[in-house]
Formats: sequence, structure tokens, C-alpha cells
Amino acid sequence: MGEPRGLECSGCRAEYGADRLSAVCPVCSSPLLARYDLEALRGRLTPEVVAGRPSGLWRWGELLPAPESLGRTWSLGEGDTPLLAVPRLAADLGLGQVWVKDEGVNPTGTFKARGLAVAVARAGHQGVSEFVLPTAGNAGAALAAYAARAGARAHIFAPADAPASILREIEAAGGILHLVDGLIDRAGREALQAAAAEGWMDLSTFREVGRLEGKKTMGLELAEALGDVPEVIVYPTGGGTGVVGIAKAFDELEALGWLGSRRPRMVAVQAEGCAPVVRALQDDAADVEYWKGAATAAAGLRVPRPLAGRLILETIRRSEGTGVTVSDDDMRQARLRLAQTEGVLACLEGAATVAGAERLARQGWIRPDERVVLFNTGTGLKDLL
Ligand SMILES: Cc1ncc(COP(=O)(O)O)c(C=O)c1O
Ligand SMILES: [Zn+2]
Repeated sequence: MGEPRGLECSGCRAEYGADRLSAVCPVCSSPLLARYDLEALRGRLTPEVVAGRPSGLWRWGELLPAPESLGRTWSLGEGDTPLLAVPRLAADLGLGQVWVKDEGVNPTGTFKARGLAVAVARAGHQGVSEFVLPTAGNAGAALAAYAARAGARAHIFAPADAPASILREIEAAGGILHLVDGLIDRAGREALQAAAAEGWMDLSTFREVGRLEGKKTMGLELAEALGDVPEVIVYPTGGGTGVVGIAKAFDELEALGWLGSRRPRMVAVQAEGCAPVVRALQDDAADVEYWKGAATAAAGLRVPRPLAGRLILETIRRSEGTGVTVSDDDMRQARLRLAQTEGVLACLEGAATVAGAERLARQGWIRPDERVVLFNTGTGLKDLL
């Protein structure tokens, strides 16, 4: 259980052993993805089997690249977040059926817990006890918590202007903070150098496979809860692992016989002040280009150039999806609207999906008869002030 068949390059398709810790292809530098023996699991890993297990993302052990027993030992209760029907908000947006997948109830308050739970268990199983990670904030908070749980050390490189409450959260959990004068791409370069110099394991998104696989469980849970996939998924996109992971979940569930070939159209929501993925989609570009002067209050969306641009674009295009931008004011207003119509207090990134869905509904890109799932990626309690 929890043993992938191997890793496969998303670019040149070269194959590597399942235990390889670095997920950067030595041939073409594209991210490696975990592959499982889905054929052998077909008929064995059924909805009934998965539903009968103790709650949390480790229910999906056969589809995760870390030993389930260790994952459960170090678990903080990640996963199995509620999928909330939000009829009042739907009516307000001029839509029919809308749900919010509320990731704010995860340990450390965001979906980042999923990826870090899996990444720490995977590397911890191989004896790694010192990690490094560049972050806009939330991934660092999640790593600090799981590293504490695993008795490991976490070095966190974060922009000095990351939300102060999150920086305090990292330190409270014993994370060693390295503040960076710049954006997350600068933090990424410094983290990479530190990893090489100190021998720490780099847990950057798309540089190891556990984080993507952990985020994948959002898609697994969604398809399980609906018994199907919706027509549209709206996701606040920064580094892009969420979007890629959710799409991978549906492909694996199809191979297992849970789903047919129909897929949701994936929408990447970004901030007007930092929208490199949306711009690349609009320009029909093959890769994502650096966004100069990135500025938005939504720290998780302040990613000027995601590491796996091609993979993100490919995923959204294959789904016949699109990109949409919203302003910081739109996010703030959408946050109040969601809280006041449905009682869900979203982070700004999550609130961006409400504003983005409204825009697409008005344009007719989302039709009133379509089922829409908005991802609230974190709690509003961290960035409300
Ligand atoms: C709350 C929140 N939402 C969304 C994102 C972006 O997610 P992804 O990197 O999976 O695109 C982040 C990333 O930092 C985040 O913290
Ligand atoms: Zn390759």
C-alpha cells in the first residue's frame, strides 16, 4: 500500500524508480509525476472500500507515494474537508448548483496541509529529517507543523512581506524562518542554494512528488462526494499544483473505473496584479512568462512565474477551461458576500473564486444549468486583518 509503481517525467516521459526523492527530470528538467499500478487496483479500490476507512486523506493510501502507516502516525487530521452546497450564494451569482470545497478546516487552516503531510511522510520514511521550502506563507506554516510532528527540522524561506500572522505561526511551530527581500521566486532560488549547500531536502512544489499527490486528494474527495465530476471547477492559482493535482485525480479515478471520460472545465483565477497563467492562456503561449511587479494582497497568488508553467497550461487547455482575473477589492467584497450569505469565512485566495465565478457567469461562460465547485483554499482567519 502506498507504493507507486514509479515516477514518470511529465515532459520527456522518462521513467524513474519510486524512491527517487527529487522530482526534477535529469534529462529535461520537467517535473516527475508518481504513477501507480491502477490496472491492478481496478475492482479492488472501490468507493465502498475507501468509504469504509477512518477519515482523512490516508483513506487513499494506494494512490499516495508514502507509507500509509507512517502518514497516519504523523497525521494532524488533514483531508476530508466539507463540500458545502451554497444555494444562497448560487442564486446571488445567477447560477444553479454551486458548492464550496472548504479547505479552511484543514490543520494549519489551508489545503497546504495535504501536500506537506504526504511530502513529510514520504521523505521521512527514507530518513530525511531536515527540510527546506520557499513559501508565500501557508505552505511554510504547514511544513513547520508536520516537521514538528515528525521530529524533523523545517527551514522556511518566505518573502519579508508575507502575512505577519502566518510568519508568527511558522515560528510558533518551531520553523526556522529565513526572510527574503523579494518575491517567492527569489525565496525559491535561495532555498535551492541552501538545500545544495546544507544537504536539506527541497520541498518546493513540483520539485518533489508528495505535495502534488497530497493536493490530488482534493479531487479524489470531490469526485467521491458527488459520485461524478461537476461541469466547472474554479481554483485560485499560484504555483499551480492544485489545478494539476485535481486533474490527475480524475484521470486516476477513470482508470480505476470510478469515472467516465467527461472532465470539468478548470478555471484558474488570478489577481489582476499578478496573472501570468491567465495571460499565457489568453496569448495562447506554450509556457508562462515572468510577471513583472507582481502585487496583490492575496499572498498565495503572488507567484510571478510558477515552476511548472507548461503543465498548468496543458491541464487547463485539455479541460477546455479558462483563466480569469479579479481585483483585490473584488476579493475583499466576495469574502464578505460568502461569509454573509453562507457563513464561510474564506481567505482572499478562496474568495477570488467567488468573484471569478461571478464574472464568468455574467459573460455566459458558465451557464445556469452547470454544476460549479469553488475551492476555498484556506480560512479567512489568517489574513482578515
Ligand atoms: C490560500 C492559498 N490559496 C491558493 C494558493 C495557490 O495554490 P497553488 O500553488 O496550488 O496554485 C496558495 C499558495 O500559496 C495559498 O496559500
Ligand atoms: Zn524529462
